[in-house]
Amino acid sequence: MSDLSVLAISGSLRDASFNTALIRAAQRLAPEGMTIQRYEHLAAIPPFSEDVEPEPPAPVVDLRERIAAADALLIATPEYNYGVPGVLKNALDWASRPSFPITSWVSPLAHKPVAIMGAAPTGMGTVRAQLQLRQLFLWTDSAVLSKPEIIVTNAHEKLALDGTVKDETTEALLRGLLDALVTRVRVTQLATAA
Ligand code: FNR
Repeated sequence: MSDLSVLAISGSLRDASFNTALIRAAQRLAPEGMTIQRYEHLAAIPPFSEDVEPEPPAPVVDLRERIAAADALLIATPEYNYGVPGVLKNALDWASRPSFPITSWVSPLAHKPVAIMGAAPTGMGTVRAQLQLRQLFLWTDSAVLSKPEIIVTNAHEKLALDGTVKDETTEALLRGLLDALVTRVRVTQLATAA
């Protein structure tokens, strides 16, 4: 397989985040040829405003460029009050603009292969947040994987902070998601080349 670059975004800012740990797990389990780079500047993205949009702040330009340069996105979302954490939604709102080609460029999220996953110490956590993300990526025309779904419940029992996976099913699902992402990237590349 030729090299494939993935930009991974954790929707949590906290040091001991299960979702950041889940990204570390993906980095450990990445198939040969896949590089997963973690985006670490979510806290630097300012609140979205259309007034600021004509001259986007440097962290936003950097985020857009990194998404555009990556072959695929891997997102690990926590669930806050049954939804996507504001910091993650805010970053994706910035990246979603413009939502159709009204200027010489279009959102870097358009047609981008995306894999979604989530971890929580609760019994049902991230199901609802992941659905919200899927809804967002409908509008951006992103190429989101439907399966396998990675819903790591009781994450404190299954994941160590260094990304060690302590649960066989979680590890198998994670490998399956990364393999599916490789396939999606290749299919997207073929479609673009045609
Ligand atoms: C939570 N948590 C939570 N869990 C859940 O399963 N469903 C929910 O709706 C919520 N809501 C919620 C709101 C807020 C403001 C906080 C801070 C937390 C708990 C959440 O799953 C837990 O804190 C995770 O550990 C957060 O993810 P990270 O930071 O570990 O990646």
